[in-house]
Amino acid sequence: MATAFIPPDYFRRYSVTDIFGSGQECEVDLGCGDGGFLLAVAQQHPERLFLGVERLLGRLRKVCRRADELELDNVRAVRAENRYLLEWMLQEGSVRRLHYLFPDPWPKEKHHKKRMMQENVVPVLHRVLTPGGELLFRTDHEEYYSWVCRVVGDSALFHREPWPDLTEYPVTDFQLHWESQGRTTYSARFVRNS
Ligand SMILES: C[S@@+](CC[C@H](N)C(=O)[O-])C[C@H]1O[C@@H](n2cnc3c(N)ncnc32)[C@H](O)[C@@H]1O
Repeated sequence: MATAFIPPDYFRRYSVTDIFGSGQECEVDLGCGDGGFLLAVAQQHPERLFLGVERLLGRLRKVCRRADELELDNVRAVRAENRYLLEWMLQEGSVRRLHYLFPDPWPKEKHHKKRMMQENVVPVLHRVLTPGGELLFRTDHEEYYSWVCRVVGDSALFHREPWPDLTEYPVTDFQLHWESQGRTTYSARFVRNS
């Protein structure tokens, strides 16, 4: 499948050109699930490059199949663990925007250590983003929202800015699910300090 990015070596870094065939910077959808958001935003912005990351093979296959059917040549999807990909497989300063949408909140306190957003991941995000690059975060889980705002927003490496005009930002599959049940959505945008 043209959309699938299958790294030939998991122990080296890849440039945007390695992944897409051209380009200097891309956007990454962390835990893209079935790809509802990824495919919609890629259709809206054919001039931008989008890499979906997902650890579940069935979901990844679905994303690839749908992207291929839609003939989207600005989408790639990789089976990887979010943090590993950002820390070890992408080149420094290669990501313009990280989309971190409705991640698993790991609500039980004994599982908080499994959350992706920990203080030691903040330098990883800073390294992989371009100057002025940003992290867009949305969740239905109020406590995880506060956690991320503290971990990333209080860091010297990022500052918080208002979410841009939401009208063109596609909803995700999980957002549709939670909002149909009347759940509130929390959003935060963090911009990389130079
Ligand atoms: C709650 S779903 C949200 C999916 C999508 N972002 C949405 O809003 O519809 C979280 C997704 O992240 C994936 N995921 C969870 N932890 C991950 C990790 N460490 N690395 C890559 N994918 C992960 C899960 O398999 C799942 O598809």
